[in-house]
Amino acid sequence: MSGKIKKIGLMTGGGDCPGLNAVIRAATRTALNLGIEVIGYKFGYKGLYKNDFEKLTKQRVSGIQHLGGTILYSSNKDNLFEYEVEEDGKKVKKDVSDIAIKNMKKEGVDALIIIGGDGTLTSARDFARKGVKVIGVPKTIDNDLAVTDVTFGFNSAINVARDALDRLHTTAESHHRIMILEVMGRNAGWIALHSGIAGSADVILIPEIPYDINKIIEKINERHHRGKLFSIICVAEGAVPVGGGVTISKIVSDSPDPIRLGGVGNILAMELEKLVTEHETRATVLGHLQRGGSPSTFDRILATRYGVKAVELLIDERYGNMVTINGDKMSFEHLENIIGRPKFVDPDGELVRTAKSIGITFGD
Ligand code: F6P
Repeated sequence: MSGKIKKIGLMTGGGDCPGLNAVIRAATRTALNLGIEVIGYKFGYKGLYKNDFEKLTKQRVSGIQHLGGTILYSSNKDNLFEYEVEEDGKKVKKDVSDIAIKNMKKEGVDALIIIGGDGTLTSARDFARKGVKVIGVPKTIDNDLAVTDVTFGFNSAINVARDALDRLHTTAESHHRIMILEVMGRNAGWIALHSGIAGSADVILIPEIPYDINKIIEKINERHHRGKLFSIICVAEGAVPVGGGVTISKIVSDSPDPIRLGGVGNILAMELEKLVTEHETRATVLGHLQRGGSPSTFDRILATRYGVKAVELLIDERYGNMVTINGDKMSFEHLENIIGRPKFVDPDGELVRTAKSIGITFGD
C-alpha cells in the first residue's frame, strides 16, 4: 500500500518549539498504520551524520502530544553541508552530506521527514537537490516561513506572550508605570503584532516598521492626558529605531545563523525613563518561555495535520516539498520556492491597519 517508501527517518532541527512531539506522533502513527517503518534521528542532522537513531513505535510516541520540546532532541548548529570536523588537529568545515546519505542507505531509510525552520529546511532543500526524498514540516514560533499561512508553535508562543501582557497590566495599572514586554521573532514582527493586539498593548514595535521614540512618547502623553496613567509596550526583539540597527545580545559563532537578537526592550526602557519623567518604566524579556511548555490546542491540531500530510506527500511521491496550510486547506510547496523568502509583516496590511484603527501606535 505504501508503494516505494518502506522506511522513513524523522528528525527535528533548529530551536525547539511547542508541537514538535505532536508532529512526530502523528507522522509515526500514520506511517505505521500504512505498514511503513519509522526511525527518529537524534539531535537533528547530527543524528543523520552519526547514524544515531531510535526506532519509533506506537508505544514510543504514545503520551507525547502534550509535551513541549522534542523526544528526538534538536540542534541548530549541525549543517552537514558545512560541518565542523577535525583534520590533522585543525578544525575545518566540510561537506559531510554524503556520509549522511550513506547512513540512510545502510539502514534502508527511503525518505526523510524533516521538521524545522528556515535553517533546517535549507539543508532539507540541499538534500533534495542531491536526490534524497525529503518532505519538510514548517516549525517555528516566529511564523516567518513563506507560503504557509502559519507554522506550528506560533500559536502557543503568542498565547504565552499574550498572557504575559495581561499580567503586566496589573503592575502597570497599580504603579502607573510604563511596562515593556520584549518578545522573540527574529527579524519578523508576527509574535509582537499578534500578542500585542490580543494583549491590549498601547504600542507595538516590529522590525518591519522602524520606530521613532517621539511617537511612542506622544502616545504615552495622550493616554496620560485622558487619565490613563500607564502604558503597555510590546516590542519585538528585532525592532529597530528609525535610522538605527537591531540590538544584538550574543553571537553564537558555530551556528549557521550566528546573530542572536535581544536587549531592545531594556534600551527603550532606559531611554523612556529619561524622557518621560511622570512614569517609571520597566522591561521584561520573555525569552525562551515562549518556546517552552505544552502546545496550545490549535498547535496540537495543526502539528497533527502537518504530520499526517507529510507522510501522505511521501506516499504520493511529492518529494522535495514542504507541507503548508492555506486557509483551512492542507497543501504543499516546493522547498525551492520557500527557502530564502522569509515572510514578514506587511506594514500596510490588514492586521497592522486594524491595530492602528483601534489606536495602537507602531512608532511611525
Ligand atoms: O527562531 C526561534 C527563536 O526563538 C527566535 O525567536 C530567537 O531569536 C532565536 O530562536 C533564539 O535562539 P537561541 O535559542 O539559539 O537563543
